[in-house]
Amino acid sequence: MTTIRQLDAPSKQLEDIHTRCFDYGWSEGVFADLLIKPHHRTYVFETDGEIVSFVVMTVVAGEGEILTIATDPDFQKQGLARMLLDQVIKTLKAEGAESLFLEVAIDNPAALRLYEACGFKKTGRRKAYYSRKDKPPVDAHILRLAL
Ligand SMILES: CC(C)(COP(=O)(O)OP(=O)(O)OC[C@H]1O[C@@H](n2cnc3c(N)ncnc32)[C@H](O)[C@@H]1OP(=O)(O)O)[C@@H](O)C(=O)NCCC(=O)NCCS
Repeated sequence: MTTIRQLDAPSKQLEDIHTRCFDYGWSEGVFADLLIKPHHRTYVFETDGEIVSFVVMTVVAGEGEILTIATDPDFQKQGLARMLLDQVIKTLKAEGAESLFLEVAIDNPAALRLYEACGFKKTGRRKAYYSRKDKPPVDAHILRLAL
């Protein structure tokens, strides 16, 4: 059975997925701190009670910002991040939010395709925004979705 829900308690599964997806994955403590910060939300996609994809974001004064999103590598390319984002977008629209922002590394075509398929447009660029192991930092595109 699959479910999308807002997370209300810390989960080690977020750290496990994140560290497998990024050069510098976030620890369980980072996710736990974000969970209790005002204006922060974490949505998870679960399959049979296991978190397999998630998004961490803020929503302030009608403006959303995605801080991170990841799908367990064993579950990628099955449409999970798309379903999760579609649900987040639907929720924000219902709340009357106006826009959703995020940054994506210019060397991450998979994520860029996902966001463009959801309707995000490029609005700017941040120089040397993401650190990389054994490589120079890379720029980020700033993307915005009008809700
Ligand atoms: C980016 C990421 C979250 C996508 O998760 P996912 O659950 O595999 O994505 P989906 O299966 O929902 O794919 C949706 C769309 O994204 C694009 N996409 C996803 N993975 C892709 C890949 N490996 N190559 C090319 N396009 C890809 C496609 O357009 C896809 O739609 P399609 O299957 O109809 O062509 C996942 O690859 C991931 O966790 N990557 C590591 C972490 C990361 O880079 N996060 C984003 C930081 S900004």
